[in-house]
Amino acid sequence: MSTANKITVYEVGPRDGLQNEKSKLELDDKVKLVNLLSATGLKKIETGSFVSPKWVPQMASSLEVFDKISRRQSVTYSALTPNLRGLQDAITANADEVAVFAAASESFSQKNINCSIDQSIERFKPLIEQALAQNLTVRGYVSCVAGCPYEGDISARSVASVAKQLFDLGCYEISLGDTIGVGTPKKIRNVIEAVANEIPRDAIALHCHDTYGQAIANIYESLDANIATFDSSVAGLGGCPYAAGASGNVASEDLVYLLQGLGLDCGVDIERLIKAGNFISHQLGRSNQSKVAQAITSKVNANGA
Ligand code: HMG
Ligand code: MG
Repeated sequence: MSTANKITVYEVGPRDGLQNEKSKLELDDKVKLVNLLSATGLKKIETGSFVSPKWVPQMASSLEVFDKISRRQSVTYSALTPNLRGLQDAITANADEVAVFAAASESFSQKNINCSIDQSIERFKPLIEQALAQNLTVRGYVSCVAGCPYEGDISARSVASVAKQLFDLGCYEISLGDTIGVGTPKKIRNVIEAVANEIPRDAIALHCHDTYGQAIANIYESLDANIATFDSSVAGLGGCPYAAGASGNVASEDLVYLLQGLGLDCGVDIERLIKAGNFISHQLGRSNQSKVAQAITSKVNANGA
């Protein structure tokens, strides 16, 4: 099991969780979600995304969200930035951290950001340089690490190559995205070991979608591989507009419950997290996708009845 003293839960609900929502969510609800999450003890919250509103309409209000949230000193509020224009907007929004996003699959890169992998790396060079010059930390994503919706299998070598390029450009952390949730523990372990041959292990994070119900198993395996940062989305919200059929991220409540059960410290108050997840699920008119949240909420309701 992980030898890290502390595990970081990187909450991506307000961005990855909401970017694919078809129904229009009120600005105040997005702001309230971030504020509720800020009160849970989470240290990292991906708050929005400065991408083309034609491509991802739901993120068009990211500037207003950043403007209206009540910030806590202890929390890093981050944003996705695909290009220099996005970086400028993130700086205007006073984001604490930005993230560039590449893919290990050529087809997914084209569909998602309209350029090849090599072109995306070239595009990120000045972005990362300028972000670092502004004292912003930069995170890097690699999508499709366990498979691509267009190409199928993706080699661990391709993942490691893109991860290394992003790390060498100055990303402090590389989040390995199982975008369509097809990974199983052995496969994820192979990818992690391939990436760990190229960049420091403590610079690797795992970003699981739970499409095939394997996310918690994959995280457990990754803890054994000494990975100490995991992306998750409150209430299991999420999906990618350019990966048809991709369901939500692993639910933050389920991740925190696992970590607590293993005696690993992540500093997140699960009751508050469930409150945030139930709030946003209610606003979206759906049930909370986290099994842990469902179980604890029904227990509380039964006791209160
Ligand atoms: P493009 O069409 O090649 O770019 O899109 P362009 O430079 O030709 O610009 C086209 C239009 O977009 C122009 O407007 C630009 O001004 C505008 P027009 O003249 O047509 O009115 N534009 C922008 N507007 C706002 N903010 C910007 C921006 N840039 C250009 N930053 C581009 C290229 C990258 C912009 C586009 O493809 C895009 O926005 N893609 C984003 C897709 C996206 O957000 N996908 C989801 C996030 S990734 C993900 O979910 C995976 C992850 O969770 C990990 C995992 O699960 O694997 C991270
Ligand atoms: Mg994702």
